[in-house]
Amino acid sequence: MYVCLCKGLTESDIHRVGQAGIVEAEKLVEVLGLNDDECCGRCVRDIQELADLATRKLALQSSNSPRCRY
Ligand code: FES
Repeated sequence: MYVCLCKGLTESDIHRVGQAGIVEAEKLVEVLGLNDDECCGRCVRDIQELADLATRKLALQSSNSPRCRY
């Protein structure tokens, strides 16, 4: 599903950015190029929430992964 129509960004795009640890609004705007003249900026809050979810999901997966006992 598209999250940003101006840049054609999908949920998968945002998921990758979030898993790279980029969740701050200012950094997301910079990395995704949402400050270009043709961008409206309406998607920034949704993108930030999706990136934050991706980061938390990755952290949860890491904490639930089996650990070597030897
Ligand atoms: S919808 Fe993302 S900048 Fe316009």
